[in-house]
Amino acid sequence: MSIIVSPSLLSANFANLQSDLDMINRSEAEWLHIDIMDGVFVPNISFGPPVLQYVAEGCTKALDVHLMVVNPMNYLDAVKALGAKVMNIHYEACTHLHRAITQIKEAGMMAGVTLNPSTPVMMLKDIIADLDLVLLMSVNPGFGGQKFIPHTVEKVKELRELIAATGSKALIEVDGGVNEQTGRVLAEAGADVLVAGNAVFKAENPEAVITALRSL
Ligand code: DX5
Ligand code: ZN
Repeated sequence: MSIIVSPSLLSANFANLQSDLDMINRSEAEWLHIDIMDGVFVPNISFGPPVLQYVAEGCTKALDVHLMVVNPMNYLDAVKALGAKVMNIHYEACTHLHRAITQIKEAGMMAGVTLNPSTPVMMLKDIIADLDLVLLMSVNPGFGGQKFIPHTVEKVKELRELIAATGSKALIEVDGGVNEQTGRVLAEAGADVLVAGNAVFKAENPEAVITALRSL
């Protein structure tokens, strides 16, 4: 089974967004990863509703939304209105995770929970069976182009075991510092979805990088 590649829009060229969207549409990427930041949960902001609307209209791929915000459920309707396939909320930003996951699924989206590098996989033990996806951060969220944290590979293996033990159908996605080298190790450890920002958009041939990641 091939890897689902989810290029991260954060690293796109916003002075020429249409050309990057055209590239994504032509590519073998199945998803487009969209990082939404509020400057509170993470020390940065990304893009707001007008840009997202343009992207949603211009992109033929499934939208994989990663909310790096406090009170992520305040954005449920907005994310649904974009037509997103996946809504990822951070474990660290959500007190009532079970309720939130239920609401995301009722809204017709895949429910994903994201873990910061310092949050143990085992925190998901009692909810893993209800999840469609777990997004493991392999950098501290907030910025593209950071260095991959190697311990993430162990977390992927641990999560793979937890999923097998509970009969969960959750996909394992990894985000941060993913390139062909780190991606290969992650795929071998059991990752299903790889997010890649700089490795794709700063490459000489972005489509070739997407194809290479897909076949790891
Ligand atoms: C970081 C974001 C990532 C980021 C990844 O907070 O969640 O999606 O865009 O970028 P790279 O692949 O360059 O590390
Ligand atoms: Zn992300």
